[in-house]
Amino acid sequence: MSRFLWLAADAPSSLDPAGRGADVIETEMWIQFAVGAFTFLLVIGLLVFVVARRMQRDPSEAHVANEPGAQRWLVLGGIVFPVVALTGLFGISVHDLVTLADPPGQEKVIVEVRGQRWWWNFDYPVEGVRSPNHLVIPVGESVRVRLRARDVIHSFWVPQLSRKIDLLPTEWTTIWMKAERPGRYRGLCAEFCGAQHARMHFVVDAVTPVQYDAWRANAKKNAPEPKTASERRGRAIFESHSCAYCHTIRGTKAAGWVGPDLTHLASRPSLAAGTLPNTRGNLGGWISDPQHVKPGALMPPGRLSGPELQALLDYLTTLR
Ligand code: CUA
Repeated sequence: MSRFLWLAADAPSSLDPAGRGADVIETEMWIQFAVGAFTFLLVIGLLVFVVARRMQRDPSEAHVANEPGAQRWLVLGGIVFPVVALTGLFGISVHDLVTLADPPGQEKVIVEVRGQRWWWNFDYPVEGVRSPNHLVIPVGESVRVRLRARDVIHSFWVPQLSRKIDLLPTEWTTIWMKAERPGRYRGLCAEFCGAQHARMHFVVDAVTPVQYDAWRANAKKNAPEPKTASERRGRAIFESHSCAYCHTIRGTKAAGWVGPDLTHLASRPSLAAGTLPNTRGNLGGWISDPQHVKPGALMPPGRLSGPELQALLDYLTTLR
């Protein structure tokens, strides 16, 4: 499957909300659209009406401004209607902003998000869990999301679940998230942040509380020990090559922090921040030539022989 097809298959639509924040925004959007469409049709309708009437009339008649009632039309249509419509819309917007700022219920999970070029780190400080590019939340529960950027300004957006919020290098920002139905949702960066801004995605899995507890219990564990000779060789290659300078695999010597933590790499749905489905073939391609998949990404090419790469893949695909 081409990676573009994969992207299109689950393209997120904010018109298909699955969480409270997106729900509020969708309702607001339809109200704004309805008032805008009504106003547009009203103005066009009046214009057609006036033109049609003028065409039937004798051109020698008095100027239209002297017509009885003309002033009333100007006051009603030019002042009263816009003031009422815009004040109403403003009131609804302020109400929705206040709603979005309030927690949707008792806080159950805190997630700290770090945005960087061009991937996302999700830390669960209470649970002691780290899950790059893969946000897992329990459905129906309030999640406090705190965000900050490591380099430039990014913007966090899950169109079906939340509003957008900027990640700033200088201070924390916060939003609330609550998924109303279980499912897999795509999140993305909504602020241009450099060459691979368009490939700075992440996956949100909204799961049942039981599934969430199981995921969290597994995510807290260190990486599983390699079982076969090839897996052991793969781990040794990872630890002795440049991989270990940038990535952590808990339970091994690899403790870099520049790139995503790979302790549970194989349990994640995507590679390279939502760019590729997480398959063995894609992982091999990504390690061999990251610049082909994501030009400008900070990951250097693997420089491994064929057998070395296969051993490394044998190991990495066990990291569930
Ligand atoms: Cu990060 Cu755009």
